[in-house]
Amino acid sequence: MQFIDLKAQYRKLKSDIDSRIQTVLDHGQYILGPEVAELEDRLAARTGAKHCIGCASGTDALLMAMMALEIGSGDEVITSPFTFFATGEMIALLGAVPVFVDIDPETYNIDPVRIEAAITPRTKAIMPVSLYGQCADFDPINEIAARHGIPVIEDAAQSFGGTYKGRESGNLSTIGCTSFFPSKPLGCYGDGGAIFTSDDSLARRMLELRNHGQDRRYHHTSIGINGRLDTIQAAILLAKLDVFDEELAARQKAAATYNKLLKDPVQAPVVRDGYTSPYAQYTIEVDDRDAVQQALQRAGIPTAVHYPVPLHLQPVFRHMNLGEGGFPLSERAGERVLSLPMHPYLEASQIVQIAETLRRVVADVTTVTK
Ligand SMILES: Cc1ncc(COP(=O)(O)O)c(C=O)c1O
Repeated sequence: MQFIDLKAQYRKLKSDIDSRIQTVLDHGQYILGPEVAELEDRLAARTGAKHCIGCASGTDALLMAMMALEIGSGDEVITSPFTFFATGEMIALLGAVPVFVDIDPETYNIDPVRIEAAITPRTKAIMPVSLYGQCADFDPINEIAARHGIPVIEDAAQSFGGTYKGRESGNLSTIGCTSFFPSKPLGCYGDGGAIFTSDDSLARRMLELRNHGQDRRYHHTSIGINGRLDTIQAAILLAKLDVFDEELAARQKAAATYNKLLKDPVQAPVVRDGYTSPYAQYTIEVDDRDAVQQALQRAGIPTAVHYPVPLHLQPVFRHMNLGEGGFPLSERAGERVLSLPMHPYLEASQIVQIAETLRRVVADVTTVTK
């Protein structure tokens, strides 16, 4: 059994993916070829954002979003400690300080109620993460940000395809950043990402930053990076975008089956009313997570932990003296979460097998620890 079965997807899409890659090899425009612009247009249309800028990774997307907002040394960016490292990493890379705010334990996303207390005169942005695919609660976050004149950057690396009150993830705030890492709901065959905004001047800045700060060839008006999306990756994404809605429906169907079978033995994920999730991860909570994970592994069921150590407890952020107990809900989640196999080609029989094994394993682990 695979945690994410990319080969099953490739088998289904092989002829389209192969022919789109062949087209790139034939026209030879490997850097910012026509597929990149075509993909950007389609993604912008899908999200409703005025601009989409394809980029080299989700990490670069976050970096360029903050560079465009001129976030730098001494500035503060409010974010969640319960996320993939890149979120805090890019804030710190720019010399700014990640200011962590604990999560809502049901959704694992930043708790809007706690944000206002973290705002200082140095706060330059709020960066909520839409974890596992469910969007953060953007209405109150945008309202607080507007009151303080602060932009909001959605880390939508896991939530592309998700919706919040009928609006698409990526287009819920000043800037949205997503990732096309192979295991993401919309993934390419290498690294890739995209930035969304409806702000013309930010879009222009990010387009230039993506290409070494050039406003035209060999004319550099700012310090940028090489943050471009490869044409071949764009071509692969175009093929996958054609079936993305079908795949989203399959992910949601798999999640619904899991939910039905797992309600009892474990804490199944909660996607709130008014939200839809692409289920980048289907993540449950269990007591004695490590023992459960090992027992599942022995039974041939692959799982993963997203993420065991919250950012404030990472060695590199230790100098901030935030220490254990600083963000107890994130710490508790880090000890309890477990992601189960999730992809659009997961069979109902496999879900039943996973759920039955999990039920048995949880009962065994509970008996042993009692
Ligand atoms: C929440 C979050 N932020 C940022 C990233 C970084 O994306 P990438 O791996 O494309 O650089 C990821 C991807 O793993 C992520 O899950």
